[in-house]
Amino acid sequence: MEASVAKLSPEDRARILNQSLAHFRNPSGADLIKRTERFNAFIQSRAEFGLWPYSRALERANGPLTAVSDISAAAREGINFAAQDYLGLSRHARVVEAGIEAMRQFGPHSAGSAVLLGNTKLSLELEEHVAELLGLEHVTLYPTGWAAGYGAIAAFVRPRDHVVMDYLCHACLQQGAASATPQIRHFIHNDAEDLKARLQSIRAKDARNGIMVITEGVFGMESDAPDLAAFQEACHAWGATLLVDVAHDLGAMGPGGGGMIAAQGLAGKIDLVMGSFAKTFASNGGFLASHSPAAKQFAKYYGSPHMFSNAVSPVQAAVATEAIRIVASDEGERLRARLFDNVNALRAGFASEGISALGTPSPVVLVPFGNDKLASLATRRIAESGVFVNLIEYPAVPVDHARLSMQVMASHEAAQIAEAVARILQARRFAEQDLQLWRASAP
Ligand SMILES: Cc1ncc(COP(=O)(O)O)c(C=O)c1O
Repeated sequence: MEASVAKLSPEDRARILNQSLAHFRNPSGADLIKRTERFNAFIQSRAEFGLWPYSRALERANGPLTAVSDISAAAREGINFAAQDYLGLSRHARVVEAGIEAMRQFGPHSAGSAVLLGNTKLSLELEEHVAELLGLEHVTLYPTGWAAGYGAIAAFVRPRDHVVMDYLCHACLQQGAASATPQIRHFIHNDAEDLKARLQSIRAKDARNGIMVITEGVFGMESDAPDLAAFQEACHAWGATLLVDVAHDLGAMGPGGGGMIAAQGLAGKIDLVMGSFAKTFASNGGFLASHSPAAKQFAKYYGSPHMFSNAVSPVQAAVATEAIRIVASDEGERLRARLFDNVNALRAGFASEGISALGTPSPVVLVPFGNDKLASLATRRIAESGVFVNLIEYPAVPVDHARLSMQVMASHEAAQIAEAVARILQARRFAEQDLQLWRASAP
């Protein structure tokens, strides 16, 4: 790389390293397709230097060790912290067997919307298992967690209603809110006092319409959690409804795998709970749960993605159900303990080198880098060293708040964790030298 970087003009160096996804977000021009070309040219120029760490592909099954290809490199073997399978259930013999058996009995796909004939007895069985895990008896399923987040808001909120949400909520929640009402307010991250002030100010002017308050059990980009009891209390005090996205924590945390809600002693006490099967339950798909049979029916027929998309497939349903059985068992407790041993070992490995992982322990370990350019160069070096992590940079987080996201599995081994820390730190040192090179004659 060094030789080819040296050949770049200072302007090209600055352009390639300084620009990000955000620079191309709002292209102008009448031709909707032609105007995408500048962005593609940017990706290609980044890829030439191994600096496009997105849209990679697994060449083998997901797991602690795997092979990954990307736009610049053919398959590389390495230690994998870039893909989700928090309890390692995707390779569990019972989970795999459940998927194969469902495929034999029902075939590969769902044959319609869940409001037509897309359900199978396997998807109905999954609803019951989700209900039991959450202590909320009425469950609606969605083809993905994204669809569940979007659909949960779109179903209940109308343009005269209000949404009050954490400004760091996931894109599915932000976009669901934007599609439902123009009346959206964002509160300071995890700040129950700021939430209360906003609820009070809305209710001072509008006693007639609904308010949906939205937060997450664990924030994947921060590894932290709100005080859910304070949030739920505020909602009830001001006549609002709380929706909590538990994509990252359900199954992987809390007693019985009940996630942050159970960890805070609130199982069955949150108004609306939605999540994804993709992080812990070895399947694609999502859900919305509550105590209300009416809310379930309303979500089915007025939350677009449930009605206007094919239902979760029989294989997805059987896999998620088997995963929930394991999550709720003694084996689930043992796997969660192993997961958190690994999380704590990874955090401690960085701490011993003076780097504090963000937030509190959760399945996602976030290693702060600050400087976006250094993080980008380091991600390339890390992949070359045979470790896979995800780069989180602007616009997912503010400029120069870049971080590495490492998604831990119960099945990682202690030696893999120690090795990954050592290689990441070495890659960071190389990246600091790379940055000098890129800057050497940049304006
Ligand atoms: C907090 C949160 N909610 C929802 C989703 C969407 O879930 P899925 O990947 O199943 O669509 C994600 C996935 O990235 C997430 O992190």
